[in-house]
Amino acid sequence: MKYTFLFIFILVFTFVSKIQAQKTQRPYRAIYSGVPWFDNRDSILSAHGANIIKDDDVYYLFGEVHSDTSNAFAGFNCYASTDLYNWAFKSAALRPQKTGKLGPNRVGERPKVMRCPATGKYVMYMHVDSLNYKDQFVGYATADKITGPYDFKGPLLFGGKPIRKWDMGTFQDTDGSGYILIHGGHIYKLSDDYTSVVAHVNKSMTSGFESPALFKKDNIYFFLGSNLTSWEKNDNYYFTAKSLSGPWTKQGLFAPKNTLTWNSQTTFVLQVNGSEDTAFIYMGDRWSYPKQASAATYVWQPMAVHGTKISIPELQQGWTVNLRTGQVGHLSPNNQRISNQSRRILYKGNWHQDTTGGMCSDQKGDSFQIQFTGTRIAWSGHSSRKGGYAKTVIHDKNGSILYSAIIDLYCLYPDKAIKFISPGMPKDTYHLTVTVLGVHPSWSDKRRSDYGSTGNFVSLDHLSVTP
Ligand code: GLA
Repeated sequence: MKYTFLFIFILVFTFVSKIQAQKTQRPYRAIYSGVPWFDNRDSILSAHGANIIKDDDVYYLFGEVHSDTSNAFAGFNCYASTDLYNWAFKSAALRPQKTGKLGPNRVGERPKVMRCPATGKYVMYMHVDSLNYKDQFVGYATADKITGPYDFKGPLLFGGKPIRKWDMGTFQDTDGSGYILIHGGHIYKLSDDYTSVVAHVNKSMTSGFESPALFKKDNIYFFLGSNLTSWEKNDNYYFTAKSLSGPWTKQGLFAPKNTLTWNSQTTFVLQVNGSEDTAFIYMGDRWSYPKQASAATYVWQPMAVHGTKISIPELQQGWTVNLRTGQVGHLSPNNQRISNQSRRILYKGNWHQDTTGGMCSDQKGDSFQIQFTGTRIAWSGHSSRKGGYAKTVIHDKNGSILYSAIIDLYCLYPDKAIKFISPGMPKDTYHLTVTVLGVHPSWSDKRRSDYGSTGNFVSLDHLSVTP
């Protein structure tokens, strides 16, 4: 009997440690934009409309939890990282409430957390609304611990009244004062305890201008925001000023015109103060309605900031930031590139070459598969107006699923880029399978009803395997 228990124990222990070794041995080594990110549980990171705050040398990311079936509030997640590449799930920081303004069939968006210097409490601000976006206000929640749980307090009041506006952000100035940013360019100053508003510091400076984000460098304030196109991407732009109350000068776009901000919408700018340099990291969302949980991704890019000018001149696929020195760098991995014409790729169905040189198909159920030996695989594809969803799965050699994700190949600004990159895995033999789902992003808002793709195409440019 004793030996049976020992035997079972050894068996279970070996099994569990094998799984852990397989899943976490080699994490990400760079920030990748526009691809699903797997967290420490191998789940896809769900933290959109996010912000990051640093606390005791750990970076905490707060963002919206989404579902693929409804836009109703599903809570706000908190993740932690010490390198900005690998994120560990920490908590469902604010859960949907049983009833009330963040209860069933309500909307909760753009959570932003700041630590109040006067009270030491963590305060989370968010856009609260009805499902049809007609009952908006800025709400707040508080917690003693950064990871929560956060206690939802209702509307943030200014002169006893809620701020009935939608897209919002936050900014903490170097003197510790906290501010709420609102679409159109409004700025409100928070009370010392961060739980009410004491002044309307800046009135609207333009119409539209959603997803507000603000940072400061060398006593110049930079205010970023987007046009109003619902979940569709557009060319975001910015203003500068020497004081939060203005006057604000419109500076124009910070990404090349028509790239639609590299297919993303602003949510936050993270400043990394290092010993050699200061990095300013643009954080944006690449929405993917209705599959916001499984296919929406993140576009995080280093920004160049000189005088009153900021820019993201090109999209960096995989880039690094040294959190000690603040220096930004590039990865030069020793990858094996596999062309889409390689005989190693097994195409099933109606795949053919498109005008970009990609191998494409829009037939539901068509797939391509490759067996590879290595530690990581990425596939690059072509996104277009006619792009659809693709399922990507990595199996180990025993046929067990290690990673699974849905990839969105729709973009109004066409791009050829990495669409999926696996986390690092122990060197072994695996299979990657990509299947055309035969569906695509589409949605409507109160002004228009025809947003989204017009096709279901999935296109493979090439594969990269890291030995
Ligand atoms: C814009 C906003 C998002 C969300 C969507 C809804 O993109 O920035 O936060 O409200 O509209 O359509």
